[in-house]
Amino acid sequence: VLAVWHQLTKTEIPELSKGSVVMRERRRVEETIRAMRRAGACRLQVISDFDMTLSRFAHNGRRVPTTHNILDNRLLINEECTKKMKELLNTYYPIEIDASRSAKEKLPFMVEWWTKVHELLIEQRIRKDMLAQAVKESRTMLRDGYKVFFDGLHESQVPLLIFSAGVGDVLEEVIRQNGVFHSNVHVISNYMDFDHAGVLRAFKGQLIHTFNKREGAVTQAAGLAQLHGRPNVLLLGDSLGDLTMADGVSDPHHVLTVGFLNDQVEERKELYMNAFDIVLVRDETMDVPNAILRNIT
Ligand code: TMP
Ligand code: MG
Repeated sequence: VLAVWHQLTKTEIPELSKGSVVMRERRRVEETIRAMRRAGACRLQVISDFDMTLSRFAHNGRRVPTTHNILDNRLLINEECTKKMKELLNTYYPIEIDASRSAKEKLPFMVEWWTKVHELLIEQRIRKDMLAQAVKESRTMLRDGYKVFFDGLHESQVPLLIFSAGVGDVLEEVIRQNGVFHSNVHVISNYMDFDHAGVLRAFKGQLIHTFNKREGAVTQAAGLAQLHGRPNVLLLGDSLGDLTMADGVSDPHHVLTVGFLNDQVEERKELYMNAFDIVLVRDETMDVPNAILRNIT
C-alpha cells in the first residue's frame, strides 16, 4: 500500500517533492488529497490569507510591501506618518513572528499595532480616488503562478475566500490590477470607511488582526452562502494565526493546510511543521497549491 501512496506524490504531484516542501505526515497529506479529489471541485472551497501568502514576501532580496505598506506613498500620507508607521512595524512585527511567544501573548500587541496604524491613517485623510494610483506605483507582487491559481479556481467554479488582516480596499485593487478579481473571489478584511467627499474617516466593522481571524471566520465567513455545502477546504497562510480561518466552516470533512514559512525560518520550522500539513520554506511560488488543485479539481 505504501508504495502506491508514494506514487501519488511522485508521479501525479511531483511538486510535492520540491526542495522547499516539508511535511510532517506525508501519508495524511496524500490521503486528504485523495479524499478531496473523490469528493470533487463542487465540494471544495479555498481559504487564503493575503499578505505574504498570495502576495510575495520578497523579490530580488527586497521585501515586497503588504497592503498597509502600499499606503506608504506621498499621494496618501506624509513623511511624519511614514516614519511613525515604520517605527510601529519595527516594534510589533518582531513580536508577530516571535517563535517564543504564544498567539495569546501576542494578541494585545497586535490590537495595539493595528489600532495605532489605523488612527495614523485616519489622521492623514486618505483619499479614495488616490488608492489605485498608489497601488500602481508600489512594488506589490503576487506569487509566481498566481494567474493559474486564480483563473483555475474561477474555471472550476471553486470559491476563493481571501481572509486578510490587511486593508481590503488596497487588496481588491491589487487583484483587480493583476486581472484576477473574478466573480468567485470573496474578501473578508479591514475596509476603509470614506465620507461623502471620499476622505477616510474610519475603518468599518470589527478590526481583523493576525490573531483574531477565528472571530471573523465564525461571524462573517460562516454567513457566506457561496461557501455553503463545501466541506473540503484548502487553506493557505503564512502565520500560525491563519490556521483559524476555516473555523467558520460547519461540519468540515477534509481540511488541508499549507503554510508559507517566509521569515525566521530556522526558529519557526518545527512550529510550522507541527501546525500545517504542508510547509513551504522560502518558496515564492504558487507551484504547490496549483499542483494540488490541478490534482483535485
Ligand atoms: P494578512 O492577514 O493579509 O497577512 O495581513 C496582515 C499582515 O500585515 C501582517 O503580517 C502584518 C502586516 N502589517 C504591516 O505590514 N503593516 C502594518 O502597519 C500592519 C498593521 C500590519
Ligand atoms: Mg499574511
